[in-house]
Amino acid sequence: MSELTSESIPTTSISHANLTHFTTAFPTLQSTLTTSPTLLSQSFSSIFSSTTASWEYAHDLSREARGLEKGGGGGESALGYGEILPETVFEVMEVIRKEHGVVYDLGSGSGRVLFASCLSHPFTSAYGLEYLPTLHENALHNLSLWRKKELETFCSSTPPLISFNFTNADISKIPNFKLTPNPTLLICHATLFDNDLFACVQLISENCEIGTTFIMVTKELRTGGVTGIETLGRKQWEMSWGWATIYIQRRV
Ligand SMILES: C[S@@+](CC[C@H](N)C(=O)[O-])C[C@H]1O[C@@H](n2cnc3c(N)ncnc32)[C@H](O)[C@@H]1O
Repeated sequence: MSELTSESIPTTSISHANLTHFTTAFPTLQSTLTTSPTLLSQSFSSIFSSTTASWEYAHDLSREARGLEKGGGGGESALGYGEILPETVFEVMEVIRKEHGVVYDLGSGSGRVLFASCLSHPFTSAYGLEYLPTLHENALHNLSLWRKKELETFCSSTPPLISFNFTNADISKIPNFKLTPNPTLLICHATLFDNDLFACVQLISENCEIGTTFIMVTKELRTGGVTGIETLGRKQWEMSWGWATIYIQRRV
């Protein structure tokens, strides 16, 4: 398997229609889509600067919800918490930058991965499913920060450019393991998912439409003719808790 580069990923065209209203408060979402990692990081930090919007806060919320003391490690169960760093999301989006449409995060926690995805890429809608109610509430809090920045940036009559949909739900209970609408991009930070939960992710992925791209952390979806999934590449990237392999895969 070769190292990932943007050239190794098949491309589709991008619609810039939704980006033309963005101004300097969202510097990365300008119509040119010319992005620099520094600008993206500055933009993300300016929206999510409060303690309650940090990954550490989400980590503690997760531990509290599971009856654990704040501050410890995250790896006790499938509900253990860790995040893909925003900078990592930006780099991965650079690799798959010709994708657009609908992005999902299965086990979305604080929602920060979806915000980082939408900051660096022209998705029209984002869906996050999270099991723990307090983390789901934190994602809604973070959404309010995003909307506040949008209102500060644009005139109030401008409708939100990206539709965010956070649901307090169990991945294993998704009806028929079918996501509606179909994702263009499905992200799953599955490092701590056990075999049963990951089997659900596998079924959900196999039920996606041809062309769907998957970003899988640590665990690779089964590939081959029966599954209709192939691996485009893999690379080590940084998480809040250390380095992990991210697999970029596609429904074919
Ligand atoms: C490692 S964290 C990933 C957080 C975020 N997606 C990221 O990558 O930065 C995994 C998340 O999956 C959630 N989770 C675990 N089992 C789940 C399930 N059955 N349904 C929905 N969410 C689940 C956990 O509560 C946790 O927030």
